Amino acid sequence: MDDIFEDYLRSHLPKVESFHPHYESALGDMLLAGGKRFRPALLLSVVKAYEPLLVDSALPVALALEMFHTYSLIHDDMPAMDDAELRRGHKTLHVRYDEATAVLAGDALNTDAFLLIAQAPLRADVRIKLVELLALNGGSQGMVLGQALDCYFENKPLALEQIEFLHTNKTAKLIAASLMMGALIADLEKSVQEALYAFGIDLGVLFQVQDDIIDVTQSEQEAGKTTNNDEDKNSFVKLLGLNESIRYADALADDLSSRFERFDAPLKEGLGTLVKSYLYRHKN
Ligand code: IPE
Ligand code: IPE
Ligand code: MG
Ligand code: MG
Ligand code: MG
Repeated sequence: MDDIFEDYLRSHLPKVESFHPHYESALGDMLLAGGKRFRPALLLSVVKAYEPLLVDSALPVALALEMFHTYSLIHDDMPAMDDAELRRGHKTLHVRYDEATAVLAGDALNTDAFLLIAQAPLRADVRIKLVELLALNGGSQGMVLGQALDCYFENKPLALEQIEFLHTNKTAKLIAASLMMGALIADLEKSVQEALYAFGIDLGVLFQVQDDIIDVTQSEQEAGKTTNNDEDKNSFVKLLGLNESIRYADALADDLSSRFERFDAPLKEGLGTLVKSYLYRHKN
């Protein structure tokens, strides 16, 4: 399935005819640079578990998630935010080109994500719900809120519950939405959609705690991105220290692991390998 997604991405990069010397390549560079593709994999795994015949129709939605996430990374790396020079093993866009190009490439990927969903070969009511979910979880009440808190409170220490709120918004909501969008495409019952969303929120908080751990434990080469960059941030490691952050991640991973066992057989079968490969990645 990874190959199916990569092939789809490569053949559906934004294509724009113009006389701009690098606009089109700037739109595709960060998508082509790689990344774990965690969010599309979550969505596609849920769809495949219940409705394998819908996987092809879900590909544009999976790409929309990756484009939206990639936009958030491009902006996150800019000097006004985290000021990072390396992403996915490549120079960040504002370093390779200039800041205006990076802002605009992010803007374009954000907008085009919604275009992809609007044009997906899915029922109109499903497409509207997918647009709503991505906007709710990625916009002013989701990822953007998290990023605003993350940047505003640099060098202003927050309490644990506030950092959990920050991480929930900046990272967990998009991960939870990825699972729920898969459930929506597969037409699962509302209660299952909600259970997947709740699981995804905790999985996403764990993902960001692990990311905070990676910032202090991995080199730039290992992570493929600028590390040791959270000194001014309200990261988990900053608040709790490395050992306590690892214990926090262990406890959350153990809890998620037992909760995962309560999902039904198709979901355990379809999502098990992916979820398990992430639960203890802070130990790798
Ligand atoms: C990095 O996301 C930013 C966070 C939300 C933690 P990923 O760790 O998923 O980055 P890529 O997509 O693999 O590059
Ligand atoms: C970024 O969190 C989360 C986003 C919404 C992009 P980080 O700033 O910790 O992500 P990295 O470490 O730069 O990938
Ligand atoms: Mg950041
Ligand atoms: Mg960052
Ligand atoms: Mg980080």
